[in-house]
Amino acid sequence: MSLLDYKSARPWAKAIRAAVINGKMPPWFADPKHGQFSNDARLSAMQIETIKAWVDGGAPAGDAREMPAPPVFAEGWRMGKPDMVIDIGEDFKITQGQDAYEHFTVATNFTEGKWIRAAEILPGNRQVVHHVHVILVQDAAAMAPSSLEAMPELSKFLIHEGKLSRIRMDAPVVNDACAAGAPKLPNLTGFQEGALASFLPGRPPDIFPAGTAKWIPPGAKLEFVIHYANTPGERQTDRTSVGLYLAPGPPEQVLRRMDLRNFFMRIPANEPNQEVKRCLTFEKDTLLLSFTPHMHYRGKDMTYELIRPNGKREILLAVPRYDFNWQLVYRLMQPARVEKGSTLIVTAHFDNSPNNAANPDPGKVIRWGDKTEEEMMTSWIEYLEVKPAPPAEAARR
Ligand code: HEM
Repeated sequence: MSLLDYKSARPWAKAIRAAVINGKMPPWFADPKHGQFSNDARLSAMQIETIKAWVDGGAPAGDAREMPAPPVFAEGWRMGKPDMVIDIGEDFKITQGQDAYEHFTVATNFTEGKWIRAAEILPGNRQVVHHVHVILVQDAAAMAPSSLEAMPELSKFLIHEGKLSRIRMDAPVVNDACAAGAPKLPNLTGFQEGALASFLPGRPPDIFPAGTAKWIPPGAKLEFVIHYANTPGERQTDRTSVGLYLAPGPPEQVLRRMDLRNFFMRIPANEPNQEVKRCLTFEKDTLLLSFTPHMHYRGKDMTYELIRPNGKREILLAVPRYDFNWQLVYRLMQPARVEKGSTLIVTAHFDNSPNNAANPDPGKVIRWGDKTEEEMMTSWIEYLEVKPAPPAEAARR
């Protein structure tokens, strides 16, 4: 449906009223009790009241002379022409009627490193591309650092099915990776470096905050990880690309992304409320900029709580009703300054019961896996390392 002009919107008036009053639209899932976000999509009370009054008044057309011009949507790049475009290197033929995850590693051929201020992923074929991550592969490494295959320490716990991987059913189980005596298993502490850019339903291009940039070293490769959704119909092809926008020069601060995951989670069959935790103790002063919670169909909620070295606790983000269909990024209005020695506790709950309408199979025990019908408990967190204060300033304190 289109809500761009009166004629198209009018038949939806009652549904619009209901959707904005009950907060279903625009989509936004952060609990307003915690944190403020620069991309908060919620309407103000006055805006909701205006829509309600319009519908209750018979949803009239109003004065045509006051009608605003419809917004113009860019056909291709939403941010305008990129400085450089790198694509997957082939017109890839998608196997009909199958969910597929494909990896394409392509050379940047950069002879010099580049600072980028933004990256936009352009799906080559929107009918089949569900989501895309573009991961930076440093010259020496053959694989992207955040791909499961690139974590040799994890390999004995993995099963591969074609290009998909999952954690073995008999792998050790650690739902609470924050517990004092949690077993020492790979990737349950620290973090892995996250992707350069991501394209997911409802997610805008990755535009980095003013004064920050990401670094692409000379000779780097880019790995595209693309989920092609199960599409019936004739054979489709895709040539997805990423547009890179150069920063004017070296930034004041280098933007980075960490991935925090608990690979050793396990959800029993029919379990309505399995808790899974993952913690990170910061080894450096850090500024946190944004959070993207990521789970699959059984994901129920996710909360990010910080414990400072003085014991003070603060919830930075709570998403009480996670919805797989909306992969939103929550950008903090003010970056959260985190002192070295602070601990971030990420707590998620999963509903594997028949009461979860999105649950594909409540009868199954669920472990970590690439497939949407399996699960993930991961968070992508954009951050800046805080530079030490210059000596003169430090002396004044
Ligand atoms: C004030 C702003 C908005 C209004 C008035 C609005 C209105 C609506 C209405 C009336 C529906 C049908 C709900 C129903 O099934 O009863 C709907 C569904 C939908 N809207 Fe919105 N919407 C808004 C913002 C957005 C935004 C910002 C997005 C995308 C980022 C979006 C994406 C969708 C999608 C994908 C659906 C269908 C999926 C679903 O029902 O969950 N809408 N919207």
